[in-house]
Amino acid sequence: MFEVDHPATQAWKRERLQNAGIAIPESLTFAAIDFETQTLAGGLRRAGFKADEPAFFSMLGVIVYLTRDAAMSTLRFVASLPSGSEIVFDYAIPPSALSESDRKLHDDVTHQVAARGEPWLSYFAPAALAGDLPGIGFARVEDLGPDEIHDRDFKGRTDGLRLNGIARLVKAGR
Ligand SMILES: C[S@@+](CC[C@H](N)C(=O)[O-])C[C@H]1O[C@@H](n2cnc3c(N)ncnc32)[C@H](O)[C@@H]1O
Repeated sequence: MFEVDHPATQAWKRERLQNAGIAIPESLTFAAIDFETQTLAGGLRRAGFKADEPAFFSMLGVIVYLTRDAAMSTLRFVASLPSGSEIVFDYAIPPSALSESDRKLHDDVTHQVAARGEPWLSYFAPAALAGDLPGIGFARVEDLGPDEIHDRDFKGRTDGLRLNGIARLVKAGR
């Protein structure tokens, strides 16, 4: 298992683990990569990742912080891996396509994170992504919005918890 993160965040995580006395499992390798200035391919290669075997990637809560170019180049690398490889990621819908209440939520969230120095940098229109992902080599794409996720995973909840509509969840495989 490889833990990929921005070098600054990963150094902070490692320090926190050390301070808390949490041992790093032998099966875990850290790969510090800034997706804006380095490639996932190069960073993983340096960390010992075998690109000739299928791999699963979880990339949740990350794409919004990347430029479109960095996001697409990262996805392109996963799409270049052997058949059976898969990635799960979420992405933000362009604010112009949101309902009024979701746009307000989006504005509040992005305002807060931008004030902390981590602005949202990329948005994807679902219809365009549905063409782009097969175009870069993904054979299987599942793109779920809040209603589908609710029907699959939240049905029967009694606490009224619902997802907002500002982001969607994708599983894309080779
Ligand atoms: C909201 S957090 C998501 C955390 C993740 N889901 C987890 O459970 O650890 C956003 C993550 O994106 C990472 N990130 C933001 N910009 C990045 C970049 N240019 N290169 C690599 N990682 C980046 C941050 O370091 C942070 O770990």
